[in-house]
Amino acid sequence: MNREDFKLLENNLIYFDNGATTLKPKVVRDAINDYYDKYSANAHRGDYKISAIVDSLYEDTRKKVANFINAKEPSEIVFTSGTTNGMNMIVFGFFKKYLKEGDEVLITLSEHASNIIPWFILQKEIGIKVKYIELNDKHEVEINNVRNAITNKTKVISLAYITNVIGDERPIKEISKLAHDNNILMVVDAAQGAPHKKINVQEDDIDFMAFSGHKMYGPTGIGVLYGKFDLLDKMIPMNYGGGMNAMFTKDGYVELREIPTRLEGGTPNIEGVIGLGEAVTYLENIGIDKINEYEKNLRKYLIDELSKLDFIEIYNKDNDSNIVAFNIKGVFAQDTAVYLDKYNICVRAGNHCAKILNNVFNINNTVRISLSFYNNKEEIDLLINVLKNSANIWKEIL
Ligand code: ALA
Repeated sequence: MNREDFKLLENNLIYFDNGATTLKPKVVRDAINDYYDKYSANAHRGDYKISAIVDSLYEDTRKKVANFINAKEPSEIVFTSGTTNGMNMIVFGFFKKYLKEGDEVLITLSEHASNIIPWFILQKEIGIKVKYIELNDKHEVEINNVRNAITNKTKVISLAYITNVIGDERPIKEISKLAHDNNILMVVDAAQGAPHKKINVQEDDIDFMAFSGHKMYGPTGIGVLYGKFDLLDKMIPMNYGGGMNAMFTKDGYVELREIPTRLEGGTPNIEGVIGLGEAVTYLENIGIDKINEYEKNLRKYLIDELSKLDFIEIYNKDNDSNIVAFNIKGVFAQDTAVYLDKYNICVRAGNHCAKILNNVFNINNTVRISLSFYNNKEEIDLLINVLKNSANIWKEIL
């Protein structure tokens, strides 16, 4: 679908690493160029025409993003540098003050580092306890296991919407209901979810959520933090300085602005915001549900074809996401990636920033294919052919 929008695909490149970052369509690249060529001013600081254009494009993106995830209002959307930045703001800007020694945070062993390490640091700093919800045989989260993990000290459940190695989708709406019935806040890392699945923060009753622009066809260095208004309003800014203050005096009196401005100190990533706005429009024009259906079918085809090769071990056959983790039996994942690259096939190999997953997976490294709507069956057929000829992989990669 829409392959003509992606310049890199003109060169016979097979790009299967969309979980790491997606390619950028022409409309996004054009929007960024237009910013520099036609109205390259700062945001919210100028009293001239091109600066007014920037202000309106910047705030239009906020509205588009609010609409994209069905937030109640645009002021619940804060621009960040990416999911990691958003997760750190949630943990250190909100929960550091909200949680007390002994309070418990529930995560799982299959979370991305950005949804683990900040909590570990808080564990060290204020004595909270990080606990793991048990995963089932397919490494998925089941509501009963969440229920079993909750104690009267649990104050936060923090989970990826879709995980970045196993690719399992969590029943966030159900988990969120259970959380709120027990006065627990629900945090969602939507880095792998937002580009592939319609997320409705009101329907899922999510308290905080973070995701990245570059994994959803937007620029790098831009991301989104969503928070329910009353919670976001209690968040402590990470950056104090220009743009976020209403006034200050020489005696040290400081008055901050309202949210979200208060949480966006300093000159923001304007080209990133404008590019993200264009990416959201682009995705909505195709239709997230259509993308989801297409990627689901493509994944099924990939699994069927890989399953025919008895020298391939697949680790996550049974889910609907765009992610497939596998190895050529007896071959180190990175060697497979180097071999595939010889045929212009880009995959990711390693532990994919989910370093403690090996506690349930029993392997440290996998090859990961993460599909996009611009991938197709022909590309999968080429991959299968290259894999079929991998008997001499050692000779080829030396
Ligand atoms: N977190 C990104 C990935 O899973 C980089 O590949």
